Amino acid sequence: MTQADPKNFHIKSFGCQMNVYDGERMAELLVDQGMSVAVSGEDADLVVLNTCHIREKAVDKVYSDIGRLRRKDGSSPMIAVAGCVAQAEGQEISRRAPSVDIVVGPQAYHRLPELMELAKSGKKALDTDMPAVSKFDVLPSRGKQARPTAFLTVQEGCDKFCTYCVVPYTRGAEISRPWADLIDEAKALVDGGAREITLLGQNVNAWTGDDEKGNHQGLDGLIRALDRISGLKRIRYMTSHPNDMTERLIAAHGEVAKLMPFLHLPVQSGSDRILKAMNRSHSAQSYLDILEQMRKVRPDIALSGDFIVGFPGESDQDFEETLQIVRDANYSQAFSFKYSPRPGTPAATMAEQIAPELMDERLQRLQALLNEQQYAFNLQTVGRTTDILLERQGKLEGQLLGKTPWLQSVHIISPNLKIGDLVEIEITQAGPNSLTGQIKERLAA
Ligand code: 5AD
Ligand code: SF4
Repeated sequence: MTQADPKNFHIKSFGCQMNVYDGERMAELLVDQGMSVAVSGEDADLVVLNTCHIREKAVDKVYSDIGRLRRKDGSSPMIAVAGCVAQAEGQEISRRAPSVDIVVGPQAYHRLPELMELAKSGKKALDTDMPAVSKFDVLPSRGKQARPTAFLTVQEGCDKFCTYCVVPYTRGAEISRPWADLIDEAKALVDGGAREITLLGQNVNAWTGDDEKGNHQGLDGLIRALDRISGLKRIRYMTSHPNDMTERLIAAHGEVAKLMPFLHLPVQSGSDRILKAMNRSHSAQSYLDILEQMRKVRPDIALSGDFIVGFPGESDQDFEETLQIVRDANYSQAFSFKYSPRPGTPAATMAEQIAPELMDERLQRLQALLNEQQYAFNLQTVGRTTDILLERQGKLEGQLLGKTPWLQSVHIISPNLKIGDLVEIEITQAGPNSLTGQIKERLAA
């Protein structure tokens, strides 16, 4: 079907923060082309589904979303499928969902305008290349920020090849963006109103590069350079791999005040047997050793993680060891998933796939323990005075929502505050998922 000239667009991002970042860059690109942001998905001339391929459920969601885009009169907007499903399934998407006009992978979305031209002339437009020219070199530079918290992708791709994971296939090999580009983008974000930057990467702590003097730097060096941007108040990074957790990065947590006391460090399983089958190349003990080092320099660090239950061959004993590492590590929050076999990954064809009912039961037990730890973590912060960065409006009249240094959400009601303020509060109440605070004073801007 030939599409009219789209004037406005809506982007829906699924999955990880890298997709949120890519969604923002696509939006900036389309605005740069003269398009506007549609009020809602229903009103949009172009809908971009920025997809996630990590688990089967995430993929199913994309196809049901495509179906729902058909309007009452039978027409549909121009539809672009971007992200990791686009990369993994390519042409198959148009076969399964003929209403899709554009399929564009995570390394090719800077070509969206050209692909839209193709789609307008009624052609199917597909680009899942991983080109030598980086998309970052051709995307428009960063402008005014809608929020005081910004994402900055510093590293993409993964060379770790965990046996369950599609990321090395959909996002390609590990690539670090150059130092100067990142410093420039961070400064542009801060000039645009960002006060907190979260550095992103599938293996963010594998980032390496040469600084302006030609000295080789790791993520800790980049963090120290960003620390010198005066308008920037907070720095975070995620997601980290245990094998790339260097002594220097750990040390930075004790020395760089803007680096927030929060670490997302997935362990996936507490069983060495399963970790080996997952090709994680770290053990339960080496993971705990990293935490011990980290807590020496930053005793209050809040720990987050990812877990997979029901990996092929996971016995009751293996699962008990996962519960044990959770008790030993003590998380402030965490994500946990049932193992989902992904086409083309080694684990998908391993013997001893686990029955869905057993996975359900294990996931419930694990989540009960993780929820207990999260609530306990929140409770122990009651009475503490800390600063929060106000990020958005709350649901109640006059209510604002901010984040503590430990990434907990805090609700606060104060008529004199606005989004972007960094304020000192006392935490007065804790729930399982969020806190309530009372204003102490506004911190110096
Ligand atoms: N099944 C279930 N969870 C998975 N993850 C990655 N691949 C799979 C899979 N096949 C989880 C891991 C990873 C997080 C982003 O998603 O825990 O850290
Ligand atoms: Fe996937 Fe493992 Fe790479 Fe993380 S480290 S993206 S889980 S392959």
